[in-house]
Order: sequence, then structure tokens, then C-alpha cells
Amino acid sequence: MRLRGGKRRKADDRLEPQGTPGLAVELRGVRREYGRGSRTVRALAGIDLALPRGTFTAVMGPSGSGKSTFLQCAAGLDRPTAGSVRLGGTEITGMRENQLTELRRSRLGFVFQAFNLLPSLTVEQNVLLPMRLAGQRQDRRRAAAMLGRVGLADKAGRRPGELSGGQQQRVAVARALITDPDVVFADEPTGALDTGTAAEVLGLLRQAVDTLGATVVMVTHDPAAAAWADRVLFLADGVFASGLDRGTAEQIAARMAALTSRTGTVAVAAA
Ligand SMILES: Nc1ncnc2c1ncn2[C@@H]1O[C@H](COP(=O)(O)OP(=O)(O)O)[C@@H](O)[C@H]1O
Ligand SMILES: [Mg+2]
Repeated sequence: MRLRGGKRRKADDRLEPQGTPGLAVELRGVRREYGRGSRTVRALAGIDLALPRGTFTAVMGPSGSGKSTFLQCAAGLDRPTAGSVRLGGTEITGMRENQLTELRRSRLGFVFQAFNLLPSLTVEQNVLLPMRLAGQRQDRRRAAAMLGRVGLADKAGRRPGELSGGQQQRVAVARALITDPDVVFADEPTGALDTGTAAEVLGLLRQAVDTLGATVVMVTHDPAAAAWADRVLFLADGVFASGLDRGTAEQIAARMAALTSRTGTVAVAAA
């Protein structure tokens, strides 16, 4: 009896996600180095991070602090030199390239600074693209619902070129959410938008977290954008130096200024 019970437990273990339950993103001891020997650049120097589902996290830091490298490693677009990354409980560290591609298509959403919509497709086709690429049934009703959410119900048949920048980014948000992903990664999503339009896009990301239970990780240099997040993590020299919960734009800006002057001093001293 004991043996059979043990066997059953073992079989069950294989079916369960291996990460900590409730975590959308888990990084353990992640390092990323470029180059070798004396020329090695340590872009990420040991990142440990656990982000629960249904949270909105902003990542800030001075130029060169490792923001882009962090986002790429966390999203399976780049491979860490050491450490492990789990997304939605799935260990992605040893995955083959085609498995990673499939995981990105079906279980991650992306919003980029430059919108990255396909100009020859309609708005609806752009929103459905992740489903099409993942080989899923293209759910037009879901696309319509997502376009409704972002206030573009009447633009389904248009091409991206006929829309304003803010509208294009709203299409990108709908596209990022269509597959109900484990995580939405946003890289400077408001970098190309004016203040008012940026607030609309950030409000949509906030709403996705609050009403759909989405998990958003956003890299930004803008304290006003970061203030929409639950938590801001500050990167300096490839490690998370500190965090700020529910900070105002002013508090976030002050923290950034302190961080920039500190790392700036180091850079001047080293020069
Ligand atoms: N492909 C690369 N080859 C060599 N060094 C790189 C490469 N990408 C980034 N780096 C270095 O890694 C560090 C972190 O870069 P990055 O992640 O782009 O920072 P951020 O996005 O915060 O500006 C920097 O010192 C940068 O010069
Ligand atoms: Mg960068």
C-alpha cells in the first residue's frame, strides 16, 4: 500500500507546476555576463525575484543598470549565464529554442515602445496574431471583447497606419492580453506617447491587473508611469538595490535621483 501511495504521489508531482504556487515570475540567482575574461561585463549580478500573480511591477534604474537584460532574461528572450527563471511555474532555463518560442506565444504577452503591430494586417488580425501563431483557434468574439476593453471596438477593420500612436499601443495591449498570458512584459510602453495618451495606456494595464488578474512587469524610465504599478524595483549595477510600494511619482523620482547620483559618482570615480 505504502509503495503504491508513494508511486502515485510521484506521478502527481510530475503534473504539478514545480515553482511556488501563486507566483507568475520567479528568478533565482540570475546572472548575465557578456564577453569573457578581463573584458567580462556583468549586466545582471545576481537577481532574486518572486512576483505573485495579479501584480503590476515597474522596473527602473539608471542607463546601463541592466533593465533591458533583466526583461530579456525574464521573458525568455535571452539566456542567463547562471541561475533559473520560472514563468507561471514552468522552469524555462533549459528549454530548447522552439519550446521557448511556443511558450512566449501562448503564455506571455509583450508591449513594446514601438508598438510592433503588423501594418498589413487589420487591427483585429493583429489582436488575433498570438492565437494564430500559437496554433490556437482564432477567437473573434474574444478579440472583439478585448478591443472593447481598450476602447477600440469600432476600429477592428482598420490598419494600424490609420490609427494614432496611443490607439496603436491600445491595440498592442489588447494583443498582449488575448491569450490570457501568465505574464505581460512591457518595455517602455509609453516611451513614444504624450503624457495624456500614456496615462490611458497605463490605465489599461492597471485595469488588466485589477479586473483580469493579469501580471504585468514593466520597464520604464518615467516615474509617472512607474507610479501606476503596485511596486517599483530599482536596478543598480545589475542587482535590485531597493523597492518602493505604492510610491507617488514624486517619491519614485526622488529615489531614482538618489540612485543615479550614487552610480554616477562611481562612474566618475572610475573614469
Ligand atoms: N550585447 C551586449 N554585449 C556587451 N555588453 C552588453 C550587451 N548588452 C548590454 N551590455 C552591457 O550590460 C550592461 C547592462 O545593459 P542594459 O541591460 O542594456 O542596461 P539598461 O537597459 O538598464 O540601460 C551595460 O553595461 C551594457 O553596456
Ligand atoms: Mg535598456
